[in-house]
Amino acid sequence: MFEQFTPAPPDAILGLTEAFRKDPNPNKINLGVGVYKDETGNTPILASVKEAETRLLQSEKSKTYLPIDGSPAFNAATQALLFGPDHEIIRSQRAATAQAPGGTGALRVAADTIAKLMKGTRVWISTPTWPNHPSVFQSAGLEVKSYPYFDAQSNDLDFDAMLAVLNEIPAGDVLLLHGACHNPTGVDLNPAQWQAVAEVVTRRKLLPLIDFAYQGFADGLKEDALGLHTIANAGVEFLVANSYSKNFGLYNERIGALTLVAKDEETAQTLLSHVKQAIRANFSNPPAHGSAIVATILNDPQLRAQWEREVGEMRDRINGMRHLLVETLNEKGVERDFSFIARQRGMFSFSGLNPDQVKALRDDYAIYIVGSGRISVAGLSEASMDYLCDAIAAVLS
Ligand code: LMR
Repeated sequence: MFEQFTPAPPDAILGLTEAFRKDPNPNKINLGVGVYKDETGNTPILASVKEAETRLLQSEKSKTYLPIDGSPAFNAATQALLFGPDHEIIRSQRAATAQAPGGTGALRVAADTIAKLMKGTRVWISTPTWPNHPSVFQSAGLEVKSYPYFDAQSNDLDFDAMLAVLNEIPAGDVLLLHGACHNPTGVDLNPAQWQAVAEVVTRRKLLPLIDFAYQGFADGLKEDALGLHTIANAGVEFLVANSYSKNFGLYNERIGALTLVAKDEETAQTLLSHVKQAIRANFSNPPAHGSAIVATILNDPQLRAQWEREVGEMRDRINGMRHLLVETLNEKGVERDFSFIARQRGMFSFSGLNPDQVKALRDDYAIYIVGSGRISVAGLSEASMDYLCDAIAAVLS
């Protein structure tokens, strides 16, 4: 039955972690997957999370199923975090949120719902984007198209090219946008550019799907929601897939949410009924633990303040690593201008290293970065900086 099959290629990101684990080199560094590490190379459990778990251990009374769309307390807290507690969208109840196993789970539920309800709809993704985006949408049977985003010459956004293509997308198609900390480039839209995108979305009647996996990792929890708020304030219907993997460090709890914003409450509830069908067919109902942690923290003023501080510390460390990386490359005499790394935001830096250089880093130095040249800055430390920069200097020369 099975011997006719040939192996599938390893995953562009998680496949690197598999290879990294097997690598015997004692100096090896995994800068592939977007996982935050502290100075000692550990991915910490946040103190606010530990405290919430301690409380949950005492208070939890049952392991019965959650509703299909997840924990009501978690869903309400998610909306308040995304929009701010007093936003018109929340007051008018025209948003509905469904808990999902991670941001990826939320994207897949969105994809299944769109594929079922909006036949023939295409999903437009940026070039480049997270390598799993096309797979998620194609697996749901959706056609994926792309729009320009990044200019490799300037290491910046190619906004004119992006806007030109957005202006040709047919009405009813889905426009996938990264809310903040664009993965893989670390290059985000500025406020005026978000405004221009919101204008195109409104005029051309597109459906924005905002992938919001890194809230708090660019400039702050509120600041990073600026793009989402710009789309929200345009008054259009849209979807948000958000993740708590990074900003709560809850990677392996698989906790995220799909939020849909419709024109009114009745429309939102109708759409939610289809979202629930997609969830039931995929994984029946979501796992509870991650949502209980997030809801406990967001609904407790003291834990929430602690968590906000911890997000700030992670953000500051990552931005500090960006500057140190640029400085250390300079110190090593690397002539190429890498100053753009300090301007990029989020966990990733799109280094501009080519596939041969990426391969040399891995083969000769056991430094694992994604084939596109994406470096997880959040995985760097002061201790590993010299080794990395020496290796980059060597593969560039
Ligand atoms: C990444 O891009 O490294 C993260 O989003 C983790 C993942 O699932 O790929």
